[in-house]
Amino acid sequence: MSFKKIVALSVFISFLFNCKNEELPYVNPQIIPAPNHQIITDGFFMLTRTTGLSYDSKFEVSGTFLKSFIENNSNITLTNSDDILFIYDASIDNSEGYKLDVGTKSITIKAKTDQGAFYAVQSLRQLLPIGFENKTHADIRVPIKCISIEDAPQFKYRGMHLDVGRHMFSVDFIKKYIDALAMLKMNTFHWHLTEDQGWRIEIKKYPKLQEVAAFRNETLIGHYSDQPHQFDGKRYGGFYTQEEVKDIVTYAQSRHVTVIPEIELPGHAQAAISAYPDLGCTGEQVDVATKWGVFEHIYCSKDETFNFLEDVLDEVVALFPSEYIHIGGDEAPKTKWKTCQQCQNRIKSEGLKDEHELQNYFITRIETYLNAKGKQIIGWDEILEGGLAPNATVMSWRGTKGAVEAAKQKHNVVMTPTSHCYFDYYQSTNTDEPTAIGGFLPLEKVYNFNPIPEELDQEESKYILGAQGNIWTEYMPTQEHVEYMAFPRMLAMSEVVWSKDNNKDYTNFTQRVEHFNERLDALNINYANHLYEISGELVSKNNTTSYHLSTTIQDKHIRFTLDGSEPNLTSEIYTQAIPIDTSQTIKAAVFNSEKQLGTVFSETINYHKAVGKTITINKTPHKSYSGSGPEGLINGISGSDSRYGDKEWLGFWGEDIEIMIDLGEDTEINSIQTRFYNGNGQWIYIPSEIKVDLFKTETESLYGNGLTLIFSPDSKNIASAGMGFEGVTTRYIKLYIKNYGTIPDGKQGAGNKAWTFIDEIIIN
Ligand code: ACM
Ligand code: ZN
Repeated sequence: MSFKKIVALSVFISFLFNCKNEELPYVNPQIIPAPNHQIITDGFFMLTRTTGLSYDSKFEVSGTFLKSFIENNSNITLTNSDDILFIYDASIDNSEGYKLDVGTKSITIKAKTDQGAFYAVQSLRQLLPIGFENKTHADIRVPIKCISIEDAPQFKYRGMHLDVGRHMFSVDFIKKYIDALAMLKMNTFHWHLTEDQGWRIEIKKYPKLQEVAAFRNETLIGHYSDQPHQFDGKRYGGFYTQEEVKDIVTYAQSRHVTVIPEIELPGHAQAAISAYPDLGCTGEQVDVATKWGVFEHIYCSKDETFNFLEDVLDEVVALFPSEYIHIGGDEAPKTKWKTCQQCQNRIKSEGLKDEHELQNYFITRIETYLNAKGKQIIGWDEILEGGLAPNATVMSWRGTKGAVEAAKQKHNVVMTPTSHCYFDYYQSTNTDEPTAIGGFLPLEKVYNFNPIPEELDQEESKYILGAQGNIWTEYMPTQEHVEYMAFPRMLAMSEVVWSKDNNKDYTNFTQRVEHFNERLDALNINYANHLYEISGELVSKNNTTSYHLSTTIQDKHIRFTLDGSEPNLTSEIYTQAIPIDTSQTIKAAVFNSEKQLGTVFSETINYHKAVGKTITINKTPHKSYSGSGPEGLINGISGSDSRYGDKEWLGFWGEDIEIMIDLGEDTEINSIQTRFYNGNGQWIYIPSEIKVDLFKTETESLYGNGLTLIFSPDSKNIASAGMGFEGVTTRYIKLYIKNYGTIPDGKQGAGNKAWTFIDEIIIN
């Protein structure tokens, strides 16, 4: 039976939630991440005070977890019999796989490992009433829907990252975070422990890491792009003691979560250098960074620095049983190395070509040290620079190119491309979202992520271990804010790494999320809820233009207005596309029969002479930023001024582009305006030059070499370039847009190609 039929059947058997059985409510199975195979069958297993649980030492973690989960959260104490039974099953292929059978008389959990059984327990947990999550379940007879599940993950690395350098969070919160990822059958917590803005792990041999590197004098207020920079004047910091680290690692082990510590090198090291200036190239005293970005004070390649790093890693290795140590490797500007005598001597003595090869030397030397201690390294994809260390695993964040390169070199890869895995990006286009770094990564985009880059063949794909969601905390000072950014995107990521493609369906997922939100409420997790948001699309067909509204959640109404007023329960119900032939503001919201559910969606269409006409671009936008296609550039709708990834924006990485607009007939035009994103912190630059030419026919140019458009800043992140004409008649408009080029030294992303982002070409 297909997944969809099973879901339909389950909806048919019960109502969505809380149906009656012998007068008792039960939970309709809506498990996240979606299991590979599940069949819901007749009847219920009744959990009562006489129910027994039995497991042997092979299932110590999973058995203990289930027993505590039931006993700590209800008035039930389990007896010692076989009603719920753990069975060792060597025939299950995947060591993390399991079979869960809830029958009317017994529940059996079959697995080959404790880890597999743990995931069966997490599925069973989702069949128990929500009250088990927060000790509010009082009934001592609990019906559990009969079901048969066979399940196993698609990927063996299923992770979530957390940056505690920019902001720090309590030990209790770290445990809550680990709990949540274990509940979602994720198995790795990537703990980003050292940063320019703070060193967060106690290293006994170097007390100044605690006294100096762990604290900054103050913190940037507002967004990095807000100028001039302002600071809060408050000292900020702290660190995790080795006892706390051990406690967290043990806690994670009791949930089959591996903690991978990240000790950043050679870059993102300013906090350590502020404590021990000799670790840098110049020996100068620097402060722990108080704002965000990339800093030039990186570790020097002299022996003394390696001695320090080896001492640090000795203590780290003793604390973390993980196979991997993450050594960072990203964003290490080479400016200081270029003028450092010791680094230049190293380049000569090791026969290296340049500073990029020195980066490789740095990483390889650390890798050799860690390999000798039985550890493997993971590093951000910059570790490909100047050659890859022999056994390194690559964490691909700057798109997927690093992943492809590493997999082709037979190196393991973890996928975390910014486009789909950076949960510090905005998740909604609502203007009242809390300030985020930028970008736009809605739930659906996470959900549709395929960790296997299309460039890889089947053999090469085996090197893709899995994927991870990243939480960088520059703009997340509180745990509630971290939760808001992490949820529900973490739910989507759990399905990306666990569920089979043919079990994935976004609409079905959102229905399960709607249900899962009650569990998150019980767990006191401050999730974002954008399920009731509306998307809009301008569609031009057969010379007519109309605006379409949609929402993923079913069984609800969209109501809208065209007069600028807020929609309410009496506003018109949307049933068909809205015709557009003039500038227009559309406001809409999702309603049930009683009230408005989500926030108000608002779109202003600036109707101009190119709307609905024909446009071609000589390059394809980057696949992560292809928006709604070239037509989006002439749809009368501007992109968000902080979310360059929304569907109005087209992104091109390092390429010059040519755009041709055909107005369909000779048309008098008076002005041309183009809009670009200007977000240098995110490597996005306005073009170095834009020229425009008008054509009478496709080849008959009016202006030969073209006219240069002049830029003027529009707002913080937007720059427009335009020009006026005095009633020129033309049919074709061609734009030549020259990419900024390479990002200069001293800027974030220095040495990389700049992005060009464009959202609209306005012809009047
Ligand atoms: C990164 O986001 N710098 C890995
Ligand atoms: Zn140096």
